[in-house]
Amino acid sequence: MLQGYWAQFLDVTEEAAIAALSLCGRGDKNAADQAAVDGMHRAFAKATLSARVAIGEGEMDEAPMLYIGEELGAGGPSCDIAVDPLEGTSLTAEGRPGAMTVLAAGPRDALLHAPDMYMEKFCAGPAAKGALDPQAPLSENLRRLAKALGKKPGELRAAILDRPRHQEILADLRSVGAAVTLLPAGDVGPAIATCLPDGDVDLVVGTGGAPEGVITAAAVLCLGGEFWCRLRPENDEEQRRAREMLGGNAEKLLMLSDVVRSDDLVFAATSVTDSVAGPAPERALGGCYVHSLVVAGGTIRRLRRFVPGN
Ligand code: FBP
Repeated sequence: MLQGYWAQFLDVTEEAAIAALSLCGRGDKNAADQAAVDGMHRAFAKATLSARVAIGEGEMDEAPMLYIGEELGAGGPSCDIAVDPLEGTSLTAEGRPGAMTVLAAGPRDALLHAPDMYMEKFCAGPAAKGALDPQAPLSENLRRLAKALGKKPGELRAAILDRPRHQEILADLRSVGAAVTLLPAGDVGPAIATCLPDGDVDLVVGTGGAPEGVITAAAVLCLGGEFWCRLRPENDEEQRRAREMLGGNAEKLLMLSDVVRSDDLVFAATSVTDSVAGPAPERALGGCYVHSLVVAGGTIRRLRRFVPGN
């Protein structure tokens, strides 16, 4: 079972986070991203895995490393991985909370090979499972979610990306009196927090990156939460790619099992700044302590590890 290899994936997100750390707050998001990519690449070279990139930094001709289809690892169980070497590149560059290195792994072909485009997502924790209706308007699902959580709608806590495209969603949330956190970037962490016993958010809704959506879905599946989504292609080329991927209807409703087709999954994330994965790395004599969240086989691990030499 792939789940047994969770520590290998942890090594990868840790090495990427340490690499990105030196670029935190320095205003250069591309450099921070590149450092994380390099860190992941180095760590995968040592991992006893045969991993193939299903979601990564782009197509082979545009991404020198972690490109889609790239084979990684020093040999071992074969798996597909969805990587976001640095989720929150701008958050890192600006030294703001919410940045982490992140990946999800599953058996070959278990993860939707979502193209790099927008995806509309809805995510809530285990209490929502079976209590909501993906076809219903948001206002109805807010009512249902509140009921499932034993709350009044006005006690719901939501997080959405702070984007003009979310005005309607924001209005729905405001109309029931929900508390809303407007995120400058980074919708993966809050979505995962909806499923954690110590998370402080009940739902994440709105349109963000599709690759981030697949990584989120893998974590949510491990954690027993609720998730659905729709690709939102923005031009003819994206329409074509989405249709090709989904066989006809580019914007069809995708449930969790359409996005992630196995439960032998590993999700790993390491904080670069304070995030759902834990506090930002702490520098110490001879190295630093890094904080990570690993979910595998329904087990949630929060880890603080000393990594020497940085
Ligand atoms: P970064 O590229 O800065 O890492 O941003 C990641 C992210 O905020 C995701 O969390 C989110 O899904 C997506 O970008 C939102 O995209 P946009 O900024 O175009 O609304």
